[in-house]
Amino acid sequence: MRASPSLALLAALSTVNADLHHLIVGTFGTENLYTLEFDDSALTLNLIGNLSVPDASSWLALSHDKKNLYGTAYSAASPAFVSYALGNATDITYSTTIQSGGNCTSSKAIFVMAATESPYAVYGSPFSGTADCGSVMSVDENGVLSELIQNYTYKSTSGVHGMALNAENSFLYSADDTGNTLWTHSVNKTTGELTYVASLDGPVTGADPRHVAVHPEGQYLYVILEGANELAQYSIDQSTGIPSFDNVTFPLIPSGEADSDYWSDEVALSFSNTYLWATSRSRSTNTTGYISAFSLSSTGNITSQLFLTPTTNSGGTANSVAPSTFSDKYVALTDSSLGFVEIWGFEGTNASVVARVDIEDGGCCANAVWYS
Ligand SMILES: *[C@@H]1O[C@H](CO)[C@@H](O)[C@H](O)[C@H]1NC(C)=O
Ligand SMILES: *[C@@H]1O[C@H](CO)[C@@H](O)[C@H](O)[C@H]1NC(C)=O
Ligand SMILES: *[C@@H]1O[C@H](CO)[C@@H](O)[C@H](O)[C@H]1NC(C)=O
Ligand SMILES: *[C@@H]1O[C@H](CO)[C@@H](O)[C@H](O)[C@H]1NC(C)=O
Ligand SMILES: *[C@@H]1O[C@H](CO)[C@@H](O)[C@H](O)[C@H]1NC(C)=O
Ligand SMILES: *[C@@H]1O[C@H](CO)[C@@H](O)[C@H](O)[C@H]1NC(C)=O
Ligand SMILES: *[C@@H]1O[C@H](CO)[C@@H](O)[C@H](O)[C@H]1NC(C)=O
Ligand SMILES: *[C@@H]1O[C@H](CO)[C@@H](O)[C@H](O)[C@H]1NC(C)=O
Ligand SMILES: *[C@@H]1O[C@H](CO)[C@@H](O)[C@H](O)[C@H]1NC(C)=O
Repeated sequence: MRASPSLALLAALSTVNADLHHLIVGTFGTENLYTLEFDDSALTLNLIGNLSVPDASSWLALSHDKKNLYGTAYSAASPAFVSYALGNATDITYSTTIQSGGNCTSSKAIFVMAATESPYAVYGSPFSGTADCGSVMSVDENGVLSELIQNYTYKSTSGVHGMALNAENSFLYSADDTGNTLWTHSVNKTTGELTYVASLDGPVTGADPRHVAVHPEGQYLYVILEGANELAQYSIDQSTGIPSFDNVTFPLIPSGEADSDYWSDEVALSFSNTYLWATSRSRSTNTTGYISAFSLSSTGNITSQLFLTPTTNSGGTANSVAPSTFSDKYVALTDSSLGFVEIWGFEGTNASVVARVDIEDGGCCANAVWYS
């Protein structure tokens, strides 16, 4: 169909950056990886890939160059991590599985992340059962998971659900949900191995840090308090790398709602690092979770909470927010109760759903990573 000149002009004006973008999504149940295509001009989201894989991945992370995808082996009997080679977002080839060791024996892998600088080590943690530990893995020259190079231990009550490195890859922060603790480890620049630096109790009993993000300027750490249903801001000591609570928190559920009915989930920086996104989930599938965004100063201080808007559904065990890697305008949100991924559009003050795809295979959808 040929567009009329006026429509063509309108399209040219409004779609200067129009492009097709791809996401890869994991699950808590089915052993599949899904590839989605988001058209930021037509505002459509389509399932274009559905690959059967050896394990379900409750968490996925891309390598720094997007040539490899790392996942938790969530359906495996003991904690392990999977590695896939990526030709593109639908050209996904299973490479290998690495078993955890040390004290990481009787539980499931829950989280995995990759360093952005050489030696590009990969960090993983299990959750539930005996989960007081973490794994450091090396990668080969192609970025494929290679060896388990360190088994390290937190404390007996620990269950680390999320980790983040600072931009220099010199410190790793671990959010210990069951241990209500925030851990700091220094990173050996040559090997990627960790050395314990400090541990800090959550701001209150039952706060339960779940996920963390570090502003690229390195001065602020943002922590999801799953139990308190808050986003907390910490300042990072520039010489020791140790965070301290700024006594600054923002609610992730409306006032009047009971903390026991929700469990807050994820925090992530926007494309330009100007905004911070955070979510909560509802423990009942009958009520919705919430999505929120914050504006940040250039150094990363949170200057305001822009909105706290109900999500479409409870979120299930997800409601994980993944800001796009090409614009501040779009974030992906996953729901594992009904099984869908949504793209939310953000215009500076509020956000709403602009596209959605339903994937009603049991356990979908866990988290989404933006390949392009
Ligand atoms: C994905 O593929 C699996 C087979 O591996 C199939 O059972 C399932 O229905 C597919 N899901 C979707 C949403 O197409
Ligand atoms: C990925 O590459 C294959 C060829 O290896 C091609 O057929 C396919 O269309 C590509 N997919 C995307 C999403 O670019
Ligand atoms: C990690 O633990 C496993 C046993 O659980 C052991 O075989 C392996 O040598 C350990 N790795 C290191 C680097 O200590
Ligand atoms: C396993 O845990 C025990 C008890 O906390 C500890 O003494 C030991 O060093 C841990 N092992 C590793 C490999 O971290
Ligand atoms: C980093 O690890 C290497 C190899 O084990 C070691 O030689 C070096 O001393 C370590 N660096 C630091 C700062 O601990
Ligand atoms: C933390 O902030 C609250 C108000 O938000 C205030 O009541 C309290 O005194 C502050 N605590 C400290 C240690 O500054
Ligand atoms: C949710 O709603 C269903 C009916 O639609 C009801 O049977 C169930 O008890 C409700 N669950 C909760 C936790 O409120
Ligand atoms: C950070 O922002 C808050 C407002 O949210 C403001 O009160 C505070 O002074 C700022 N702190 C710094 C160090 O800029
Ligand atoms: C924000 O957007 C949602 C739709 O996503 C809407 O329901 C809500 O009323 C909006 N909030 C404000 C304060 O405009």
